[in-house]
Amino acid sequence: MKQTKYLLDESQLPKNYYNIIPDLPSPPPPPLDPATREPLDPGKLAAIFPMGLIEQEVSGQSEIPIPEPVREAYSLFRPTPLIRAHRLERALNTPAHIYYKNEGVSPAGSHKPNTAIAQAYFNVREGIHKLVTETGAGQWGSALSLAGTFFDIEVLVYMVKISYQQKPYRKSMVQTYGATIHPSPSERTESGRAILAKTPDSPGSLGIAISEAVEEALHDNKAKYALGSVLNHVLLHQTVIGQEALRQMKMAGEYPDVVIGCHGGGSNFAGLAFPFLRDKAAGKPVRAVAAEPVSCPTLTKGEYRYDLGDTAGFTPLMKMYTLGHDFVPPAIHAGGLRYHGAAPLVSQLLHEKLIEAVAYGQDDIFPAAMLFARTEGIIPAPESAHAIKAAIVEAERAREEGQAKVILFNLSGHGNFDMGAYDAFLASTLGGNGKE
Ligand SMILES: Cc1ncc(COP(=O)(O)O)c(C=O)c1O
Repeated sequence: MKQTKYLLDESQLPKNYYNIIPDLPSPPPPPLDPATREPLDPGKLAAIFPMGLIEQEVSGQSEIPIPEPVREAYSLFRPTPLIRAHRLERALNTPAHIYYKNEGVSPAGSHKPNTAIAQAYFNVREGIHKLVTETGAGQWGSALSLAGTFFDIEVLVYMVKISYQQKPYRKSMVQTYGATIHPSPSERTESGRAILAKTPDSPGSLGIAISEAVEEALHDNKAKYALGSVLNHVLLHQTVIGQEALRQMKMAGEYPDVVIGCHGGGSNFAGLAFPFLRDKAAGKPVRAVAAEPVSCPTLTKGEYRYDLGDTAGFTPLMKMYTLGHDFVPPAIHAGGLRYHGAAPLVSQLLHEKLIEAVAYGQDDIFPAAMLFARTEGIIPAPESAHAIKAAIVEAERAREEGQAKVILFNLSGHGNFDMGAYDAFLASTLGGNGKE
C-alpha cells in the first residue's frame, strides 16, 4: 500500500522558530511613526504589545527558542500531519505528487493557535491577563480564546460584522472558550462609531476591527492587543509549519518544486514557505506561491508603499502591498482573506520576485474545495480552498507538461463552521445553472 500520512512524534516538535530576516537580500524597510514618518521607536509598541513579542518583531537572530510551556501546549495537536493527496491526484489524472500540511487538526481548526499560544504565553510572562483582538472569519478569535483558556487570560474579540452574521458558530466557539465577542463596527469605540455614522450598514472589515481592538487596548492599561497575522512575530510563530513539513517531505523522500499557501495577512503562507525559502536562499530551486481572492487582490493588484495597518490610523505605517487602509472588500465568504494589506515580509519577498502571487474568484475556489472534499474527505475552510485551487492549477499544468512535479500546500483550516458558504455555493450550482 502506498504511504499517505507522514507523521512526526512530539519529540520532533521544532525547538526554535525560524526568523527569515537575516536571510533576506536586504534589511526590511522599518515601520514608520505615522505622526513623524520617521522610523518607529520599537519601545512605542510597548503600549499595545509585551516586550517579549516586540523583541521578536525586530530580532535579527535566525533561530528563536520556543519556550517549553508553548511547546507543551502545541503538543496537543502538533506536529500536524503531512498527507499525500493520492485520491486528489487520481481525480486530476496528474503525474504530480500533491502533499498538504493539515493545520485544520488544531482544536480551533486552523493554523492560528500556533501564534495565539505563543502570544498568550509572552503576555502572561509579563503579567498581562487581558487581550483584545479582532477577527475576520472567526478563526483567529477562536484561536486566541483557546489560548486564553490555556494561560488564564481574559480575551475580548471584535469580529467583522459580516462574518459574525455568516458564521454564528464561530461566535459560540469564542464564548465556549470563555471569551467575549462583539460585532464590528460597534458603538463601543470611537473608531466604530465614526464608521457607523458614515455607513450605518457597514459590513465591517479587518482594518476597522483592528482599529476598535487597538483603541480598546490603548484605553485599558491592564490590557494588551494581539494581532493574528501580518506582523513579523506572527509569521515567525507560524514557521513551525514549514519546519515540520521539511522533515516530513524528507520522510517521503521528496522535495517540493512549489509550496503554496492562501494569503490573507500572510501568516500561514509564510509559516509554510519561509523555511523552504531558506533553502532557496542557499540555491534550491523551490517556488513559493501565495493565493488570494480576486475580490481583495492585495498582492496581485495592490501598490507596494507605506500604509497604515488599520482604518482609523492607530498602527504604524508599514511598507507593504496595499489596496489602501480604507478599502472595504466585498463580503466574500473567505472572511479571513479580506485584509487591505499584506505582511511586510511577504510584500518584500514579492517585490524582490522571490515569491509569486495568484488570485482566484469564488467561482474557482468552491469547485476546488468540492473536489478536495470529495476526494480527500476534509471540507476545507474557504480561505484554504484558494491554496487548493492553486495546487490544482499546478497539478494540471504538470499533466499538460507530462512532469511529475512535487506540490506542497498548506491546508490552513477545516471548513466545518463554514457550511453557510457551502450552502450558498450548493444552492447556486444546484439551482439549475447546469454545473451539478
Ligand atoms: C483558515 C484560514 N486560513 C487563512 C487565513 C488567512 O490568514 P493568514 O494569511 O494570516 O494565514 C485565515 C484568517 O483568518 C484563516 O482563518
